[in-house]
Amino acid sequence: MKVLVATVKPFAGAAVSKIKEVLDESGYELKLLEKYEDKQQLLDAVADADALIVRSDKVDSEVIDAAEKLKIVVRAGAGYDNLDLEACKSKNIVAMNTPGQNSNAVAELALGMMVFLARGGFNGKPGTELRNKNLGIHAYGNVGKYVGEIAKGFGMNVFAFDPFVNDADIEKDGIKAVSSAEELYKKCQYVSLHIPSNEKTKASIGKNLLSIMPGGAVLVNTARKEVINEKELLEVFKEREDFSYISDIAPDCSEDIEESFDGRYFFTPKKMGAQTAEANINAGFAAANQIVAFIEKGDETFRVNK
Ligand code: 3PG
Repeated sequence: MKVLVATVKPFAGAAVSKIKEVLDESGYELKLLEKYEDKQQLLDAVADADALIVRSDKVDSEVIDAAEKLKIVVRAGAGYDNLDLEACKSKNIVAMNTPGQNSNAVAELALGMMVFLARGGFNGKPGTELRNKNLGIHAYGNVGKYVGEIAKGFGMNVFAFDPFVNDADIEKDGIKAVSSAEELYKKCQYVSLHIPSNEKTKASIGKNLLSIMPGGAVLVNTARKEVINEKELLEVFKEREDFSYISDIAPDCSEDIEESFDGRYFFTPKKMGAQTAEANINAGFAAANQIVAFIEKGDETFRVNK
């Protein structure tokens, strides 16, 4: 069995070693394609692969068509908006993610960016504190849970909205469940986004929610830039001098924001929420194990294209 690990943004070395260990044990071969610049390199590399591990790398129908022997693709991470699930299904290829494996890393970045902004980018001038501020968690999944846990450590008042999670499951973590997105945004000076990017959520965060946030509003995005309505985001930036946006990866309209709204934004140069050795090891190890379990026993536990 040939397993291709194709990552434009490579895993930490320790994660690759861990993947190799798992594959060696089953007599599988590891093929590594890191930092590729050209899609053709992926198309060539995937041609003889039985299994594929990726991160945010785009696996579209062209990649699937080139992958003549492929049986399974695992997105080592949570969001699988980079996989063409239908294309996989049409070729009988199982698609999986590794939920929860990199969540703590993403949550730490969310809080880290909040502190960074609250302290003026560590510019030495008086900033503000997170204690006693309201934080709204928009979607209470694996990352949202960690954000809540860490934020409580900061002494924040934590609220969450998630239509797919029972209030009781939120409240047992000491977090107040609210019944609509509007209620969350109205209540919380800080809102941290943890919704996936899909047809329903794309461009769903706009003026209707951002304009009702309390004074000193800060939107924190470690989810996907696509969930933001950028035209309306810019309008909110213009209309509210007290509004800030911090995001793990710059929005398409970053130049407009950087030009006019100094001190009210922070964007990572590269998506780096999951860029820790620990997260890479967890997600890579899980991906390799899931491939072995599927090939050897038909285990489809983390399948996302049933
Ligand atoms: C995820 O969905 O798991 C994160 O966004 C991580 O993405 P990455 O593997 O590209 O860093």
